[in-house]
Amino acid sequence: MSQKVLVLSAGGPLASQVARRIRQAHVYCEVAPSGEKAEAIRAVGPIGLVLAGDRFDRYPVDPDVRLLGLPILAIERPEDADKLESFLFDQCRANADFTAERFIDDAVHAVREQVGDGRVLLALSGGVDSSVVAALLHRAVGGRLDCVFVNHGLMRKGEPEEVARVFTRDFPVNLIAVDAEERFMQRLSGIEDPEQKRKIIGAEFIEVFAEEARKLGALNFFAQGTIYPDIIESGVMPGEDMIKSHHNVGGLPDDIQFDGIVEPLKMLFKDEVRAVGRALLLPETMVARQPFPGPGLGVRVVGALTREKVAIVREADFIFREELGRAGLLPENGQCFAVLTGVQSVGIREGVRAYEHVVALRAVSTMDFMTADWVRVPYDVVARASERITAEVAGVGRVVLDVTGKPPGAIEWE
Ligand code: XMP
Repeated sequence: MSQKVLVLSAGGPLASQVARRIRQAHVYCEVAPSGEKAEAIRAVGPIGLVLAGDRFDRYPVDPDVRLLGLPILAIERPEDADKLESFLFDQCRANADFTAERFIDDAVHAVREQVGDGRVLLALSGGVDSSVVAALLHRAVGGRLDCVFVNHGLMRKGEPEEVARVFTRDFPVNLIAVDAEERFMQRLSGIEDPEQKRKIIGAEFIEVFAEEARKLGALNFFAQGTIYPDIIESGVMPGEDMIKSHHNVGGLPDDIQFDGIVEPLKMLFKDEVRAVGRALLLPETMVARQPFPGPGLGVRVVGALTREKVAIVREADFIFREELGRAGLLPENGQCFAVLTGVQSVGIREGVRAYEHVVALRAVSTMDFMTADWVRVPYDVVARASERITAEVAGVGRVVLDVTGKPPGAIEWE
């Protein structure tokens, strides 16, 4: 972007909030630690500086910054953000030209410069970030993008099929879709402890991915869906370097090496990633998708996994989200899902005593996933979901609603 505002952070969440407000005004900005040297700021070439936070006495700004002659706005409290608009447009004379389309043009150009005629490998999960990276890189490098999609058999209903459809038909990349369900189920057989399940799923995922990467031969670039909050959280605290360890490929074996890492979304907040996805014409179901944990349905079946249990929770989860969607209650900043509780309970099926699974429905809204509130889903929506799940999903005889916030509950049951 030709114009940028620099937000100097004295720690805490305010700098991110201010940066979001500036971006919403279509002005590009970046966050840097409060102690950034005047010379480094001059090199970045901002049109204005915003000081965000209340600990500048502890983490002072370089005194030479005043000599740069830039407009400066100090925000001590969130309410002061109301002064931003006049600061940006009257004092900094900002153009308001930071849009999804502009971002895409710049990102495509930057990726082409970085990659040259090399090939790029992406681990495509079907989540928002990696899907937007895939669509963006498809535009930038076309057929020189290899996407490996590892289906561990623990995805939500319809998602593997959607990934295959979108990235062969709409954005035709070189898609290597690996059906690894059998392998994962074998490794997970009899494992009850959730942390052990997580470890096995994570390790197996890397193994399958690495096998496919080796088959591709020499690789030039590895793409990742890193986004700006990851970078701010890991590096823009006062006294630290701005961008740290995100620039490495976590967990891949040493024999798989790359010339470089491509992270085209690393300066975007989550809602901006969704806006870019929409501008690229990715399907709304993919762009608006709620976060889904890497171990997938594996941590939504309490206790040991079986194919039957995973199939049950997948179907119940689909019905619950379908009913919430019909009622317009599937927020992007929340998570709504079903859990197979591991409890069976007594009921009556066609006049005969039945002993069947209990499914719990969980819907939470959250801004940061550190805390969450349970969503007051209207009872008629809960009733429809419950009726459908007990009628349509064989083996489920009872549905309960989870009414626990975080804390004390975690978002996931395991
Ligand atoms: P909890 O359950 O700790 O979840 O309140 C907070 C957020 O993290 C997600 N989550 C995971 N994501 N691998 C992931 O990629 C995991 O093992 C995992 N466990 C929880 C959870 O879905 C929520 O968004």
